Amino acid sequence: MAEQTSAPRKRILSGIQPTGTPTLGNYVGAVRNWAALQADHDCLYMVADLHTLTVRNEPAVLRRRTREMAALLLAAGIDPKEHVVFVQSHVPAHTQLSWVLGCYTQFGELSRMTQFKDKSAKHPDNINGGLFTYPVLMAADILIYNADLVPVGQDQTQHVELARDIAGRFNSIYGPTLTVPEGYTLALGAKIQSLAEPTKKMSKSDPNANSFVLMTDDKDTIVRKFKRAVTDSDGQVRFDKEAKPGVSNLMTIYSVFTGKDMAAIEAEFAGRGYGDFKLAVAEVTADGLAPIQAEYARILADKRYVDGVLADGAARAARIADRTVRKVYRKVGLLQLEA
Ligand code: TYM
Repeated sequence: MAEQTSAPRKRILSGIQPTGTPTLGNYVGAVRNWAALQADHDCLYMVADLHTLTVRNEPAVLRRRTREMAALLLAAGIDPKEHVVFVQSHVPAHTQLSWVLGCYTQFGELSRMTQFKDKSAKHPDNINGGLFTYPVLMAADILIYNADLVPVGQDQTQHVELARDIAGRFNSIYGPTLTVPEGYTLALGAKIQSLAEPTKKMSKSDPNANSFVLMTDDKDTIVRKFKRAVTDSDGQVRFDKEAKPGVSNLMTIYSVFTGKDMAAIEAEFAGRGYGDFKLAVAEVTADGLAPIQAEYARILADKRYVDGVLADGAARAARIADRTVRKVYRKVGLLQLEA
């Protein structure tokens, strides 16, 4: 990580599951933001492979996607020399801390997690223990690095809140041990919606392929998907999340890629139809993603480079993580042998 200048830089930890090719939602809500935060923070960015085991995966596919996700983070501009890029399962201390923290987390708290409720409803035949304790592992991911800030999209804020509660509880019993982290959600783009059903979040697990744009989609596909995006019949490009969720979602995407604010976008498209607007959104999106896609292809072709980055990242992450686990083990009274 970068050398400290005058004030110590805040530490950031965030993660993304390698559940599929990431979507525009993951990019806008997370990865793009991760890249931007590197300038003035010390960052640890993690491919959360253990979390994906809560649903059934094809083992070979999971392995491939884990490497792809790492390549994508690098392609999006994350600098693995200044910061730490690693795979969750490569740092065993996460699961060690997770066990301890699970003993300081209440059944009731975990039962109230909306993601647990949603995912249980989606997979009624596989409501496993991992799905239930998922937020405890996520708390361990964060607390093990004493992260100050955790940038996440809106759907993960409840989990970050729980991590704060767990840290606070642990500290109140054992004295200051774990940093209580702050969540960090973007004002713009924290929730990119589905193109097909704009009141739902854009998700790579959506069975309707027209509902999401993938980070790897080519320009023609992006144009086709945006052309089909659900809007409304009022015909005006105007930002109103409640009354016009589809148009507002497209405006958000346009704003992210152009830096224009909503008033400027409304003025730009005043009196023009949705057809023009959708094409413009598709074009700025495709142009915004193109350099990342080129880098992604280049980086992924060099498996040894990606694996080298991940090995180095795991070693650096483990140095911090192991210290926290030793401290926590000691505080709760686990016997540590004197060397
Ligand atoms: P995951 O893999 O579902 O998503 C990764 C990040 O992308 C954000 N995101 C979105 N943002 C805006 N619009 C969307 N449509 C959208 N979809 C996803 C998510 O909020 C997230 O920030 N449990 C986490 C991974 C994780 C983690 C952690 C995150 C594991 N340990 C520790 C932070 C800290 C997850 O499943 O994210």
